[in-house]
Amino acid sequence: MDSRGSGRGVMLLPLQEDDIPKVLALWSEAGLPTKPGGRDTLENLTRRRREAPDLFIGAFEGERMIGVVIGSDDGRKGWVNRLAVVPDRRRAGIAAKLLARCEEALRSRGRRIICALIEKDNEASQRLVEGKGYRCEDRIAYYAKREADDV
Ligand SMILES: CC(C)(COP(=O)(O)OP(=O)(O)OC[C@H]1O[C@@H](n2cnc3c(N)ncnc32)[C@H](O)[C@@H]1OP(=O)(O)O)[C@@H](O)C(=O)NCCC(=O)NCCS
Repeated sequence: MDSRGSGRGVMLLPLQEDDIPKVLALWSEAGLPTKPGGRDTLENLTRRRREAPDLFIGAFEGERMIGVVIGSDDGRKGWVNRLAVVPDRRRAGIAAKLLARCEEALRSRGRRIICALIEKDNEASQRLVEGKGYRCEDRIAYYAKREADDV
């Protein structure tokens, strides 16, 4: 039996350094855009995982990674980022489990406000978080100052 079990059921596990390339492949399979020449380089993700290993969480069936979420903690709020599940394992509650685990990790860090940025046309993600108690704060607009392309 490998260290991730016999393949029975879904296991949520902290990601290891050598899982990072699989994360990039999973995002691509899930249709989540990445910036492989910018913030999603292997080096950047590896460094971020080292800084906050509790916030890099994977869903595994045996050795196969079927879902991922990356939390972040800005010291005031917790953020749920880059949640994705492979297409052939959707609507099985895996994202909901990952979200709950990420919230738990952020709560353990003392965060009591947990946020997610979701594109307006991403209905699946909106329904997911709304079902878990998140409310869209219409009074806030998202601003970004983009000082380089493809970062
Ligand atoms: C969004 C995503 C992560 C959901 O993963 P999932 O494992 O299928 O979600 P779950 O099975 O945990 O769904 C939980 C609830 O979310 C809602 N939901 C999930 N997918 C949905 C869809 N396609 N349409 C409507 N509601 C949906 C439902 O309320 C669902 O509960 P139900 O199945 O009992 O009705 C997945 O569709 C995905 O990877 N999308 C592409 C990546 C992405 O957009 N990530 C978000 C970036 S912010």
